[in-house]
Amino acid sequence: MSSTRIIAVSGKGGAGKTVITALMAIVLREVPRLRLLLIDGDPSMSHLARILGLRVERTLEDLRGDVIKVASEGDEEEKGEMVKSLDYYLFEALVEDKGFNLLAMGTPDSPGCFCPANTLLRDAIETLSKNFDMTVVDCEAGLEQINRKVVRSVNRLLIVTDPTLRGLQTADAIRKTADRYTHYQEMGLIINRIRSPAEASKIIKEAATLQLKVLGTVPEDENISKLDTLGKPITEITSDAPSLKAVRKICESLKV
Ligand SMILES: Nc1ncnc2c1ncn2[C@@H]1O[C@H](COP(=O)(O)OP(=O)(O)OP(=O)(O)O)[C@@H](O)[C@H]1O
Ligand SMILES: [Mg+2]
Repeated sequence: MSSTRIIAVSGKGGAGKTVITALMAIVLREVPRLRLLLIDGDPSMSHLARILGLRVERTLEDLRGDVIKVASEGDEEEKGEMVKSLDYYLFEALVEDKGFNLLAMGTPDSPGCFCPANTLLRDAIETLSKNFDMTVVDCEAGLEQINRKVVRSVNRLLIVTDPTLRGLQTADAIRKTADRYTHYQEMGLIINRIRSPAEASKIIKEAATLQLKVLGTVPEDENISKLDTLGKPITEITSDAPSLKAVRKICESLKV
């Protein structure tokens, strides 16, 4: 087992973070004896569970709501009980599937700042990841969760971009923020939705000028779009789909 224990999948909005995380899950869940945890860290939409065809009964936000309720309404005994059982409730919120577990952050009820939700997410990642060999976090788009140190204990930062300069600039900003606020050991750029070898080489050159280390590229894949259109889970993707093959190669380079 390598030291890659916590992987954060970050990047610009709509770049393909959730799709790449799901494809990684499809590959990694076949690794013998690897205890895999997926975290859907997007507070605006629990997309990861949905594209994996899973139903989430309880989110981290539901748990936070219960804690707040007991803290404001419960008696001393109930409060003590809640504190003692927090880890238990955290495990109870996991959705179990073949080869992995998943925790969804969920959407905060009240509008405004996501700070308390993000703080709980950070604690949950740090507590739960100790019980798994690998934890992959599908982050919210942009810099917020890096800024807020949600993934401060990440070992490997994967930044997903589409083949655009805007995507690369966001990747660069994320890397710089992560340099300040996290303890990552390795960073790798995944360039998604590549449509031709010429496009790949052009964007790889651009990445090099920003000193962004390219871990791999993933092609635009109509297998993904078809499943998307039909609302089918990505787990139904054919094993020889070009995007899955590309993600398999990326996972090999992670030396799991
Ligand atoms: N390689 C690909 N080939 C074809 N379609 C893709 C590919 N990667 C992503 N998509 C499509 O692009 C859209 C955005 O992907 P996804 O939801 O994974 O992005 P995201 O970065 O997680 O977005 P958000 O910032 O909203 O969380 C989806 O409709 C997805 O099906
Ligand atoms: Mg997403």
